[in-house]
Amino acid sequence: MIINKLEPQGYCGGVTRALQMAKDLGKESKNDVYMLGKIIHNSHVINELEKLGIKTIDEKNKTRLELLDSIDKGTVIFSAHGVSPKVYEKATQKNLNIVDATCPYVLIVQKNIKEYLAKGYKCLYIGTKNHPECEGILGIDSSITLIENKDDILKLDINTNKVYVTNQTTLSRFDTDSLITLLKEKYSNIIIDNKICMATTVRQEAVLNQPKADLCIIVGDKNSSNTNKLKEVSIKTNTNTILIDNVNDLNESLLKDVKVVNITSGASTPSYIVDEIINYLKTL
Ligand code: F3S
Repeated sequence: MIINKLEPQGYCGGVTRALQMAKDLGKESKNDVYMLGKIIHNSHVINELEKLGIKTIDEKNKTRLELLDSIDKGTVIFSAHGVSPKVYEKATQKNLNIVDATCPYVLIVQKNIKEYLAKGYKCLYIGTKNHPECEGILGIDSSITLIENKDDILKLDINTNKVYVTNQTTLSRFDTDSLITLLKEKYSNIIIDNKICMATTVRQEAVLNQPKADLCIIVGDKNSSNTNKLKEVSIKTNTNTILIDNVNDLNESLLKDVKVVNITSGASTPSYIVDEIINYLKTL
């Protein structure tokens, strides 16, 4: 079997930074250290942090603000996705020690949107409802409108020519291009601030330009936005594509007649998980 490892892989800068901050904290203080939501979307990483004594507070359908109700003392870590100002305020009121592991790139998106709000712009945000990064942005101000699809744009009724649009960092241009084209048609003066991050972009480009293969394996957590986007981009290239969490997800039927395989991973996938898969494939 020919195995093509697409590059780049490994943690992105934002994930590396967030994990280092959490690990340092786990080593220093043994008690009452909490992750507000998942620090990144990868269960292997969460388990590693649990072993260091860092408890993850996460519940389906609960916002970061609601999750804070479960923490009454100690240190709270904000995940790489960022949080809204209200989460900051509530954690401060509760006298919690705050460690902010928000990715610097997400902080730039938050800062830009605040600046345009202050200048009186109507701000639009292309993102995915309930994703923590999106939650953090929409929590900045109730006037920010979430755009998930074309219908959301058709429904817009804006009475100013000062319109600004930005987006979630882990989307793909296949998500944003057609929406931005439609927005430009409707609001010719719109300021477009594309914020798909570089780590996401270069991985997607590698998948878009992947060599011909019988199968493309995307490795990562099914809840990871950037990992899911890699899968969607690969499918656009008409390559048979699967998303797996680890080597145990592979089976003979998935690999039947596969002679050439491409492999890549999300920005929150540990390298050793990919190595395990490659080592297994080499044995076939
Ligand atoms: Fe940051 Fe992009 Fe990684 S926003 S956390 S560098 S995927």
